[in-house]
Amino acid sequence: MEAGSLHLVAETGREVCGYGRLTPGGGSAQISQMVVAATWRRRGIGSALLAVLTETAAQQADHLRLSAQLDAVPFYRRFGFVAVGEPHLSDRLRIPVQDMELNATPCRPTSART
Ligand SMILES: CC(C)(COP(=O)(O)OP(=O)(O)OC[C@H]1O[C@@H](n2cnc3c(N)ncnc32)[C@H](O)[C@@H]1OP(=O)(O)O)[C@@H](O)C(=O)NCCC(=O)NCCS
Repeated sequence: MEAGSLHLVAETGREVCGYGRLTPGGGSAQISQMVVAATWRRRGIGSALLAVLTETAAQQADHLRLSAQLDAVPFYRRFGFVAVGEPHLSDRLRIPVQDMELNATPCRPTSART
């Protein structure tokens, strides 16, 4: 387990159904290891994890980086991540990934009474 990282788990009560990690580093932060158990996908769990990770990152970094598996690129695009460079093979697993970035300062609704 990496020191200084936030490890975020989604659980059903009995089992872990999702996980994501946020690692700070200078002015940027990195998301990695995002995964939702196959039987729990497309139910909003990945979005819920990513929302917490991006909100947390906004408090400690200017921008957020990740390497997305190519299938997951549309998922991250929905959150405003943009592709940086061309797809390439990841260092460790040698699978095709796309580096992506997000300006971590969120655009939030605010209100004012007049
Ligand atoms: C990518 C992943 C984390 C998404 O988790 P999830 O809980 O299924 O995501 P959500 O239910 O919050 O999806 C929200 C939206 O993102 C998009 N999306 C999610 N997975 C997608 C996929 N595989 N392909 C295209 N769009 C996808 C869809 O628009 C989806 O909305 P919809 O279901 O209403 O169409 C999950 O599919 C996963 O664990 N995949 C395998 C591991 C992986 O690729 N991890 C990412 C490594 S970088």
